[in-house]
Amino acid sequence: MKTPTTAEGRTASDASTGYSNSASADLGAARTVLSLMRSIEDIGRDRARGGYSRPVYGSAELELRSWFLEAAAQRDLDVETDRNGIMWAWWYAPGKQRRDAVVTGSHLDSVPGGGAYDGPLGVASSLAAIDVLRDRGFVPSRPIVVAVFPEEEGSRFGVACLGSRLLTGAISPERALALRDGEGVTFAQALTTQGGRGDRIGADRDMLARIGIFLELHVEQGRGLIDLGAPVGVASSILGHGRWRLSAHGQGNHAGTTLMAGRQDAMVAAARTVVAVREIALEHSGARATVGRLQPIPGGTNVIASRVDFWLDVRHAEDAVTAVIVEKIHAEARRLAAEEGCTMDLVEESVSGTVHFDATLGLELSVATGGSPMLPTGAGHDAGVLASEVPTAMLFVRNPTGISHSPEELCEDDDARLGTVALADALAHHAG
Ligand code: GLV
Ligand code: MN
Ligand code: MN
Repeated sequence: MKTPTTAEGRTASDASTGYSNSASADLGAARTVLSLMRSIEDIGRDRARGGYSRPVYGSAELELRSWFLEAAAQRDLDVETDRNGIMWAWWYAPGKQRRDAVVTGSHLDSVPGGGAYDGPLGVASSLAAIDVLRDRGFVPSRPIVVAVFPEEEGSRFGVACLGSRLLTGAISPERALALRDGEGVTFAQALTTQGGRGDRIGADRDMLARIGIFLELHVEQGRGLIDLGAPVGVASSILGHGRWRLSAHGQGNHAGTTLMAGRQDAMVAAARTVVAVREIALEHSGARATVGRLQPIPGGTNVIASRVDFWLDVRHAEDAVTAVIVEKIHAEARRLAAEEGCTMDLVEESVSGTVHFDATLGLELSVATGGSPMLPTGAGHDAGVLASEVPTAMLFVRNPTGISHSPEELCEDDDARLGTVALADALAHHAG
């Protein structure tokens, strides 16, 4: 992370930061967010794609889990890994039990070739916020817990926020266990390899009952805070989003001996559908629709594809509009496939409705963090899943590129420290 230097040669964070609550002692203690982020900057680098690839239960994500356990142990936090693979690191309030906890945290898995901050910034800031509170001599009256959720991105098994969905019962254990990654490995197999047990996963009412409130800090994934000129913001809502798998079926054949006329080329059906996806999304104000992954079968340069699987991500503030968009895309995809002598089918993989965070809690968080502005987001989060079960709020930290799910995602050192102090203020507000 870069720390801009002022003309006087001091770092900008030593000068006025514009964040009135941030005493310089707090910003000093918040420095650990930078060392924590630096200590993982070589884990899961993807030389081919750029950025980081940290799929759940892959070697990089496992290394990050070990890093988290070590960082939690250094802070005398008591870590339990629950039956859904979520790690919870407890800072107990004196004489208090494991209940009514103020929970913070995020995720450590990434999209393929993702940025350094999406997920890990929330985990590192949570650990560093504990350092800030201890530096202040703060004694919690409720336990403070740092949680790490597995498979938030759904980049290995296809379903976003798999850990929090299992915890809340938003996905059945049967469905989760049968999910397969790109290599054909089931979630059940991956879980068993990590010492988990398929017969124990699923809704965990006891664990949910221990959460008094959930506060997730996340790097912002768009330009909202750049435009507002603010380092930290509070989430007002999460755009509804979902994922669908489309499969075009045609006739595999030889690229040289098959004439152009009369081909049943699944790739052409898929390609025409990708263009239609954008056109249909443009008919609906505020809609976003993306095809970011496409897999031809068998996948040879000189082979007409017999099948192409491709994945659709659709987002809109109104869930009914999302449903209409997906139906239109499916109908148009079938029509385009038929023109190519192919067929097309569509399977829903996961859907999350638009989430409006509790406005009172959001306002409280804004005040507790020195008047942070409220802003919506188009990105999904475990906080969105948990919001239906427990009081939930989110803090965003400015991303100067406005780019995310890409190596260009960024967070300046000063903003990371300000975000950490804001989180510490929020934790103190609720656990004080
Ligand atoms: C996760 O970041 C998503 O919005 O898909
Ligand atoms: Mn993400
Ligand atoms: Mn994320």
